[in-house]
Amino acid sequence: MERENPRAERQGGITRKTLFKAALIATPVPLLAGQAPALARDTALSGGPLTPTPYCDDGDDPTPPQTEGPYFKPNSPHRSVLPGAGTTLTVSGYVFGLACQPLANVLLDFWQADRNGAYDNVTYNFRGHQFTNAQGAFKLTTIVPGLYPGRTRHIHVKAQAPGRPVLTTQLYFPGEPRNNTDPLFDPALLMTVRTVGTGRQGTFDFVLNVPGAPPTDSPTSPPPGGGTWRVGVTYQAGDQVTYGGAAYRCLQGHRSQAGWEPPDVPALWRRA
Ligand SMILES: [Fe+2]
Repeated sequence: MERENPRAERQGGITRKTLFKAALIATPVPLLAGQAPALARDTALSGGPLTPTPYCDDGDDPTPPQTEGPYFKPNSPHRSVLPGAGTTLTVSGYVFGLACQPLANVLLDFWQADRNGAYDNVTYNFRGHQFTNAQGAFKLTTIVPGLYPGRTRHIHVKAQAPGRPVLTTQLYFPGEPRNNTDPLFDPALLMTVRTVGTGRQGTFDFVLNVPGAPPTDSPTSPPPGGGTWRVGVTYQAGDQVTYGGAAYRCLQGHRSQAGWEPPDVPALWRRA
């Protein structure tokens, strides 16, 4: 039975995460007033039903853990590209804390089967670790893992914020027939996956059990370039500000934050 999608009721709203991502994605497509930014994982690009993946929304649950399985190997290479034959797959996204703050320098250690469903337990093929950047983002380039007996298609990962416990979990692919029969499968761990050319592009956002306050919103001094825009101000659609010598009109109401300067957030501001 298809589960109710908690995201549906949010489609008219704006969450801290969607605004954060809108600022980073800097989509050139202007939004209509009142619409939340259209993000890859929110729009069922795979053609299937929207997945009930936990949504980082101030106080939401962290990404659920899963068993490590028998094939983890420590000391994987530091690399974000896992070379090898197969259908190219990228997996990208962000890592957030419980307060939806992006987490930098999070260790993400991925391991998976090759296209035939076999793990390399001798060397480190299809194993690698990386760290989220200052914006909490990561990107893995690999191949679509093959199937092996008893399991649906999946990628293993360990995620650890600095000084915090390790989250061990797995990521899943939508539309896989074995998702219905694998007892480990958890729809909360479905990636959004779309086909691009001959490859696949997956997205997934982790929410780690890291407490913390959301970015501070206190009003600050004028921006370096001068202007009337300020952090910590509640702007309404239609409001006008200046920043760096240019005028901008607000496209949708929000409370401004550092990192959402008008030139950088076309989802929120348009040159007037
Ligand atoms: Fe596995």
